[in-house]
Amino acid sequence: MRPQIVAGNWKMNLSQSQAQALTSEIVGMRRDELHQAVELILIPPFVHLKSVGGLFEHTPNLHLGSQNVAAYEAGAYTGEISAQMLQDYQVEYVIIGHSERRGYFAENADILVQKVNIALKNGLRPIFCCGESLEMREKGDYLAFLKNQISEGLFHLSAQEFEKIVIAYEPIWAIGTGRTAEVAQAQEVHQALRQHVAAQYGQNLAAQIPILYGGSVNAKNAAELFAAPDIDGGLVGGASLKSREFIEIAKSFPKADVL
Ligand code: PGA
Repeated sequence: MRPQIVAGNWKMNLSQSQAQALTSEIVGMRRDELHQAVELILIPPFVHLKSVGGLFEHTPNLHLGSQNVAAYEAGAYTGEISAQMLQDYQVEYVIIGHSERRGYFAENADILVQKVNIALKNGLRPIFCCGESLEMREKGDYLAFLKNQISEGLFHLSAQEFEKIVIAYEPIWAIGTGRTAEVAQAQEVHQALRQHVAAQYGQNLAAQIPILYGGSVNAKNAAELFAAPDIDGGLVGGASLKSREFIEIAKSFPKADVL
């Protein structure tokens, strides 16, 4: 069975004390209310990684993620943070290919490939994002575009490397807009991406890869989304900044036995 994952992408939000308060609340609720099997990933800004991660001790299935990683090992890259540095901070996951990085910071396919490689080499699991614009959705050729984002970013990997990948489908028109994809729209893409992975790596591997949905996920729409056969959880932005909302999202899996 594939893991059930809810990842909170805090983006560029929260002071250190706010980040610590949010983490402590999530740790408590995770322990008291959530079925063990649900995996939570908290993805704060770099500067909060240490203090947030420090509050995790002895909490099962709570993981630390990074919003970015440098495309280079080490050296004269002012302002960058390396995969090795992240690993020192007990970071397990890293978001790569988010539409905000692709769009605002001009991260192209070559850079994303370098980031994926360097993350894997240093034991970090990429949460690799793909997503189409509204214009592309309306034109109707979004599936080919999304499959291409996955092949150009990931299909150079060996099967052993690909096993570590988490895919996130985040339609750009649904991010931070309050407009969620309908379940049928998301399921169509998730199924197509899984088949695309199967064509390259085989059915067995494709069946193991978690594919998360992202884009205005909240406590109201999560249950319907997570009930779809190919949606294995969510990459949550705005709603991950509120502990109660985040935990309610994590309780939305159909088979999650709430304690
Ligand atoms: P949102 O962001 O939940 O605020 O739409 C999701 C994301 O960008 O990961």
